[in-house]
Amino acid sequence: MTALRLLGLLAGLLATSRAGSAPLVDIVGGRKARRQEFPFLASIQTQGRHFCGGALIHPGFILTAASCFQSRNTGTATVVLGAYNLRRRERSRQTFSIRSISENGYDPQENLNDVLLLQLDRQANLTSSTVAVVPLPPQNATVEAGTNCQVAGWGAQHHRGRLSRVPRVVNVTVTPSDQCRPNNVCTGVLTRRGGICQGDGGTPLVCNGLAHGVASWSRGPCGRGPDFFARVALFRDWIDSVINQPVGCAPA
Ligand SMILES: *[C@@H]1O[C@H](CO)[C@@H](O)[C@H](O)[C@H]1NC(C)=O
Ligand SMILES: *[C@@H]1O[C@H](CO)[C@@H](O)[C@H](O)[C@H]1NC(C)=O
Ligand SMILES: *[C@@H]1O[C@H](CO)[C@@H](O)[C@H](O)[C@H]1NC(C)=O
Repeated sequence: MTALRLLGLLAGLLATSRAGSAPLVDIVGGRKARRQEFPFLASIQTQGRHFCGGALIHPGFILTAASCFQSRNTGTATVVLGAYNLRRRERSRQTFSIRSISENGYDPQENLNDVLLLQLDRQANLTSSTVAVVPLPPQNATVEAGTNCQVAGWGAQHHRGRLSRVPRVVNVTVTPSDQCRPNNVCTGVLTRRGGICQGDGGTPLVCNGLAHGVASWSRGPCGRGPDFFARVALFRDWIDSVINQPVGCAPA
């Protein structure tokens, strides 16, 4: 019910902004990221094709969404760090296979606990400026409604659109908790279309420099919001336990 109310509110705002003849800007509603602006951003690929995003949270681990591997095999997936233009060959890239995965109660019916840790086959090289780790919030940390966050990814710029060549970034606002669920962080862009789209699954939501969310699902078509992110702070202790004792299950 609350979601419907928010959609109504968004629709109203959209109508207003369109009436003001603001063009629909093309992630949705964002701008091109600059090279090296998001050095923690991972492109997860099969056969050289991007299908999900992720975040480097430790030299040996990527945090992504469990839903990314609902219909895909981690055995054939690769993780690409230091990428920018997916259509180019880039020297800055570091490519990994997945040694093991760890999940924590993913529920595809309810889209709950949509987090997955991928252990890389070796440690990423962090000596260049193109690859870096993003910090995580402490266990149970909250992110207040109204907080400005950023989400970046190679996802489509509109519903059913093609993937973006270079990552795009959009500033989003955390919605009030009555328009979300306790296990998610939800965001929207109130004055125009904006948010995650196909290909952005697993990509991090960064608020105040911390990866507070993992892109999970969206209530409506791309850019209409609200977008639902797995609430990373609920998994911090679990993440630490996996990273400090890497014995995840074998790749599916
Ligand atoms: C790591 O990156 C630096 C800078 O790009 C490079 O000089 C070095 O050889 C790399 N090390 C490894 C182990 O790949
Ligand atoms: C986080 O919240 C859970 C559930 O409310 C609680 O059991 C746990 O002790 C909390 N942990 C920390 C570090 O605050
Ligand atoms: C977008 O967010 C970034 C990082 O918080 C901030 O520096 C920038 O001013 C924001 N841009 C807009 C248009 O709000």
